[in-house]
Amino acid sequence: MTKNKKLIDWVNEWAAWCEPTNVQWCDGSEEENQQLLDGMVASGMATKLNEKKRPGSYAFNSDPSDVARVENRTFICTTNKEDAGPTNNWMAPDEMKATMKARYKGCMKGRTLYVIPFSMGPLGSNIAKIGVEITDSPYVVTNMRIMTRMGKKVLDILGENGEFIPCVHSVGAPLEPGQKDSKWPCAPTIDDKFISHFPETYEIWSFGSGYGGNALLGKKCLALRIASKMAKDEGWLAEHMLILGITNPKGEKKYIAAAFPSACGKTNLAMLIPTIPGWKVETVGDDIAWMKFGKDGRLYAINPEAGFFGVAPFTSMDTNPNAMLSARANTIFTNVGVTPDGDIWWEGIGTDCPAGTINWKNKVYDPAAGEPCAHPNARFTAPANQCPAIDAAWEDPAGVPISAILFGGRRPSTVPLIHESNSWNHGVFMGSIVGSEVTAAAIGLKAGVRRDPFAMLPFCGYNMGDYFGHWIEIGKKTTNDKLPKIFFVNWFRKDNGKWLWPGYGENSRVLAYIFDRCNGQGEAVDSPIGKIPAPNAINIEGLDITAGQLEKALAVNADEWKDEVALIDEHYKMFGNHLPKELKEELVGLKKRLEM
Ligand code: OXD
Ligand code: MN
Repeated sequence: MTKNKKLIDWVNEWAAWCEPTNVQWCDGSEEENQQLLDGMVASGMATKLNEKKRPGSYAFNSDPSDVARVENRTFICTTNKEDAGPTNNWMAPDEMKATMKARYKGCMKGRTLYVIPFSMGPLGSNIAKIGVEITDSPYVVTNMRIMTRMGKKVLDILGENGEFIPCVHSVGAPLEPGQKDSKWPCAPTIDDKFISHFPETYEIWSFGSGYGGNALLGKKCLALRIASKMAKDEGWLAEHMLILGITNPKGEKKYIAAAFPSACGKTNLAMLIPTIPGWKVETVGDDIAWMKFGKDGRLYAINPEAGFFGVAPFTSMDTNPNAMLSARANTIFTNVGVTPDGDIWWEGIGTDCPAGTINWKNKVYDPAAGEPCAHPNARFTAPANQCPAIDAAWEDPAGVPISAILFGGRRPSTVPLIHESNSWNHGVFMGSIVGSEVTAAAIGLKAGVRRDPFAMLPFCGYNMGDYFGHWIEIGKKTTNDKLPKIFFVNWFRKDNGKWLWPGYGENSRVLAYIFDRCNGQGEAVDSPIGKIPAPNAINIEGLDITAGQLEKALAVNADEWKDEVALIDEHYKMFGNHLPKELKEELVGLKKRLEM
């Protein structure tokens, strides 16, 4: 299927080492996909859903030990530890390769090695990158077919001499002759799992997990960790950001990119249905943005993915109809409930759970047992082109021009509904202090703010201090008027335990204000932390919220910010001399404005 010698040699070398029964080069065709799905139904790994209710769709249950990304087994392997920085797990490349090579030996016995050529980004776009994943998981192949552009057409673009990013994946569960396969093969313990990145050589090696970002290597591994390093080397940005298009009642359109930590509603914002009359929001991407400068000096973004890998629980026709409709067909569901009539169900889907529904652990769901029907990290893998709100330019190889960048997190106090940076460097400062409140009970962390700079904490493929420096450098590459404006939003502020802002579609009111600011309109007033909307600048017509409530949502309370500054001081210490001087200056400036 290819004459690319480097690729053929690489596949042969790994096939000899992993000892699969067969090697299958994936062409990405409909027939190939159907064969893989039929094979997984026959082996008991997949359930075919009711063709009338959920055409072309399948449900899978993972092993209970393999349900999410494993951050503590994710490694950035650089020659010098300092190059991985203080926020990443590190191991030297040679040591990691030796450790993993031993595990890869014979690891695909009894299985097929699939070769998946894929493109992150529209085929042939100069922003796109080609990867090739080898895997022993047919589940991975069918998911990669939704999440990326995959198959023969990618090999055609690669040609005889094209470069690709090699991605090695194995579930780490060889089969002895006659051994019955498990429904969800994976390595037995967490310590047997490795998600390793070699940013100096642009390589990815993953072992032991079949789930999500651990196994679909185009997404977090390539499009964020390796791409962030490539972006630094080449002068662009690879970010954990949604991209949306917003059109005002006059028909003017702008594009916005937004970074929020995982589980802060990125998919909901990307697919938002505005409540204010005459406005429209369209989706370019819900998770990752690659941004490069165009000839006109503006930043242009592409969504490198071709599908959504969305969290299922609490997605409903009320909270996100566009996501529900994206997953109406040709979708892979993982760890959801399956109803007796062959459809899916999860907590918060908006309907009662039919009796006899099978839960993600493959047992009849018993609401009285105190366990959820769907795993909290249950997912749908749905083709982006099935989203009713998909933007007409979502596959434009040139990307879409970005007018504004938003940062945000879940902050019950301190952080106002919206504030705007005073400058690019001040905006980089805002990105560097992104954080979300965690409750001690939830993930066994100390309660308080978990800093997640640029929402890239688990996804930055090099020293995070140098990454801040890269953002500062980007700001020097063009003129101020061409750079996107930077804003910080917080939908989650509370007063006496109650949300101050209704969120969801009502967030369009904040987006409309941002749109106006980018047009040189919308009145703002200075505050110590940046520009805040003037009273009345945010349209609350028709909203059940008092002016006093909005005032509280927008308030900048100096005492709270003095506490915050102490936390930022603490957070910044970690980066030592990798912290850019520009950010130190921004912090000094903030302290002065707070009269500290
Ligand atoms: C995701 C994540 O799945 O950020 O997108 O965890
Ligand atoms: Mn994400």
